[in-house]
Amino acid sequence: MADSRVPGFYKLSVEERRREIAARAEVSFEELVRAVADGGIDSGVADKIVENVIGTYALPYGVALNVRINGVDRFVPMVVEEPSVIAAASNAAKMVRSGGGFVAEQDESLMIGQIQLYGVPDCPAATRAVLAARVELMDLAVRAAPGLVPYGGGPRDLEVRDLGDGMLVVHVLVDCRDAMGANMVNTIAEALAPRLAELARGQIGLRILSNLADRRVVKVCARVRCDALPGRGVADPERSGMEMADAIVQASRFAEADPYRAATHNKGIMNGVDAVVMATGNDWRAVEAGAHAYAARTGRYAPLAIWRREGTQLVGTLELPLALGTVGGTLRVHPGARLALRLMGATTVRDLAFAAASAGLASNLAALRALATEGIQRGHMTLHARSVAVTVGARDDEVEPVAAGLVAGGVVTVEAAEKLLAQLRS
Ligand code: MEV
Repeated sequence: MADSRVPGFYKLSVEERRREIAARAEVSFEELVRAVADGGIDSGVADKIVENVIGTYALPYGVALNVRINGVDRFVPMVVEEPSVIAAASNAAKMVRSGGGFVAEQDESLMIGQIQLYGVPDCPAATRAVLAARVELMDLAVRAAPGLVPYGGGPRDLEVRDLGDGMLVVHVLVDCRDAMGANMVNTIAEALAPRLAELARGQIGLRILSNLADRRVVKVCARVRCDALPGRGVADPERSGMEMADAIVQASRFAEADPYRAATHNKGIMNGVDAVVMATGNDWRAVEAGAHAYAARTGRYAPLAIWRREGTQLVGTLELPLALGTVGGTLRVHPGARLALRLMGATTVRDLAFAAASAGLASNLAALRALATEGIQRGHMTLHARSVAVTVGARDDEVEPVAAGLVAGGVVTVEAAEKLLAQLRS
């Protein structure tokens, strides 16, 4: 993979950025343009994906820079409408590089299919009967999704949960390899249900995957050297970095103590995660549902990432379930999603999950650093000012001076921008 640092990237025009990224990621420029210009798909394609189509809806497609994960540099494509998110993730990734980059891991990668059985007369006896028929049931499951086996995937195990009041839920655990796996898991759940109902002597209820994918959890850790953590003072970078680290730890402890703050803290994480999930054509509602259910798994809603200082290093860890795919689904039809995987150099779903989690932790670090110093509005204002400058017709070399003038004047409006542009030109 190419070096993911591209100094001055943000100053380039869109066309120049496309050329730069295409060259570095070894993708043809024409192919890149086809994949991202005008949203990647037309109404005809959209009409084959969902119903009642009247058009398509494009969102900004950017690339986060400076990201290194497990020693490998990666460009991380992000699709998001919120200003600052991509710049902030890139900045934070630069800080994390100082400590070697993100370190990500995943112990197991299993989806859960749920089969609900109700009206079960004797739940303990039904549980014993289901577990005793494990070999037969697993064979049935394999036959329901034979396509997985050649790829090393397939059903792995069964678990039975007694929810009380005659309701038994059977979990089938499925290794979906590089697919998100919703269809396969649902097919398996539907195939198992009649035999399970016989064994349990109950009625078949729902047969559907669980979005609380807590057997597909990704952990990512970031170590930031305090002297690489821009703080409030400049005289002694390490000392001011350590103070900054302590302020970030206080922000983390706030989220750990208060679900109201934890929700916003996690929203900042999902800014990064969702943008990567969207760019790669994955189901962000599934990821969101899983993330928040996981955050509440102890019965109390908690932050998905926490931060502590260890000597002269700030250490952050993020843990969340990520049910993603690098094959099938939207990837079949959306060239922008396929391009995202190529730019990222993701050859497995693990590469993708690690990139999404790293973008999440980077977004969280950037938000906490900004909130613990000047607040986020100044950064937002600067970006907003640039877009207002463009709106009033500032050319490439005029955007920065007009934006700077707007921020300095504290009034970011079209009228103020027009005035500044006229002054600049005269
Ligand atoms: C805004 O999109 C996200 C933040 O609110 C996250 C946070 O407060 O940690 C800035």
